[in-house]
Amino acid sequence: MEAAAPVVDCEYLKEIERTRRDLRALISNKKCAPIMLRLAWHDAGTYDAKTKTGGPNGSIRNEEEYSHGANNGLKIAIDLCEEVKSKHPRVTYADLYQLAGVVAVEVTGGPTIKFVPGRKDSNVSPNEGRLPDAKQGPSHLRDVFYRMGLSDKDIVALSGGHTLGKAHPERSGFDEKPWTNDPLKFDNSYFLELLKGDTDGLLQLPTDKALVEDPKFRYYVELYAKDEEAFFNDYAESHKKLSELGFTPPSFLKSNTPAALLAHSAIGVAVAATVVILSYFYEATIRK
Ligand code: HEM
Repeated sequence: MEAAAPVVDCEYLKEIERTRRDLRALISNKKCAPIMLRLAWHDAGTYDAKTKTGGPNGSIRNEEEYSHGANNGLKIAIDLCEEVKSKHPRVTYADLYQLAGVVAVEVTGGPTIKFVPGRKDSNVSPNEGRLPDAKQGPSHLRDVFYRMGLSDKDIVALSGGHTLGKAHPERSGFDEKPWTNDPLKFDNSYFLELLKGDTDGLLQLPTDKALVEDPKFRYYVELYAKDEEAFFNDYAESHKKLSELGFTPPSFLKSNTPAALLAHSAIGVAVAATVVILSYFYEATIRK
């Protein structure tokens, strides 16, 4: 079942900013940016554009879903987020997990990703098997990401998320190795390492290697390896898309500018004033 969308008013927006600050502190103190980013991606990455099911709706918090094989270990991140949720109960899980992903990228030196709040929570979990299988190649990656409505460019840019973190044998069965020499720094070194091949003892999953083997993917790998700014711009755009799959932001927030917010509150004030004036005239007419 899907809960109602949160009411995104000024108070909700303020609560989001307080939540953002708490997440920043938690993620820096616990050095848990990698697993927080993986949590955000796994909640969103179940989206199916045809049936409009799955996606960033907080359903990964259901035991039924976090116990899927692909989500091994993510209960740790869910529990860490719960500490923040208990301080900000109005913020939906769906918003909380996506905000945690955005903050994880930011605190490790990555690009700023625009965050638009208002996602609904869902108690319905998709069937197992929607997330990618690391042992497969380019056509599997395309099947999974195209199902979400994402493109080749999104696949390569988002895979750059492996600039953070490492594999854990007890979670995924892969050797305990990071993809880069500094797994707590968000930069373009993932692509530089991919082009070197697996020579220096770092991790490269079959799906990572697929990005250099397929010519369309390789074009972006080469671009991001030589131009970190291009990577940051494309990553921020693709991450925002991933975090908003199946989500229609409240219309007054779409442009996400202070002017739009101001206009929204100005409209609110104008409507309220009109109601007061009309009821005054109504009362006055009735009493005559
Ligand atoms: C393209 C298909 C992808 C596959 C097959 C894949 C697979 C994996 C696997 C097997 C692990 C190791 C998990 C563990 O043992 O702890 C992992 C970790 C990770 N993945 Fe991915 N991933 C993919 C895409 C992504 C994307 C799109 C992002 C983010 C935008 C991402 C972010 C991460 C992060 C940050 C970690 C490290 C987690 C940690 O250190 O605890 N991955 N991924």
